Amino acid sequence: MKSPKPLVAGNWKMNGLKAAQAELIALIEMLAAAPAGCEVLICPPFTLIPRFAEVAAGSAVAIGGQDCHAAPNGAHTGDIAAEMLADAGASHVIIGHSERRADHGEDDAIVEAKARAAIRAGLAAIICIGETQGQRDAGHALAVIEAQLAGSVPAAATPENTVIAYEPVWAIGSGRTPSPGDIAQVHGAIRRLLSARFGAAGDAFRLLYGGSVKPANAAALLSAGDVDGALVGGASLKARELDGIIDAYR
Ligand code: PGA
Repeated sequence: MKSPKPLVAGNWKMNGLKAAQAELIALIEMLAAAPAGCEVLICPPFTLIPRFAEVAAGSAVAIGGQDCHAAPNGAHTGDIAAEMLADAGASHVIIGHSERRADHGEDDAIVEAKARAAIRAGLAAIICIGETQGQRDAGHALAVIEAQLAGSVPAAATPENTVIAYEPVWAIGSGRTPSPGDIAQVHGAIRRLLSARFGAAGDAFRLLYGGSVKPANAAALLSAGDVDGALVGGASLKARELDGIIDAYR
């Protein structure tokens, strides 16, 4: 089975007021002027999803959420259901980002339940995994990845409804990245684990790398083995910077 088109996804985190719509419009225009050989996704905060989905309708940019609750509705003050994201125009949702795991105590079981919710609602789940600096230093990176993958990816996952993002915690927002060789080693391990669990379909899951991806390092990082795109934080807030990363697929 052949991997589908790569995906470059922007995670805006808790950034963006209405005026940031100008960056989305600029990105749409850049992609129209110079089409890319990848899918492009912007995940703004919840408040901007309906507006962004309207602006991006019919363009080369898809819109996603950054988290969802596992339940379809109910007494969960402040939470958002995957069904609500879909209703607002999202096609994807990031699940289990290390900031959610750290700030909100989300463990693999919670992440797995949220990924099932995303699939139930017809969204593609972008499930994040990755080791801390301490785990890497102790030589446990691959064991951590294996446990997170086993615990966070639901049995119903398919290459169509699930994307895996490898984001070493120490590379997020730090300006530091693993070498392309290190990324290829982890992505190769993820690929083997997915193939062992899902058979031939394991080859077709998209594996994103995330953590300090910038225009200057994108070509090197994204050409590493088994990398099918990027999950981009800080550099996704500016259309020109994200477009510079997307250049890796032009
Ligand atoms: P960064 O964030 O690109 O700012 O390092 C990546 C992420 O957290 O998804």
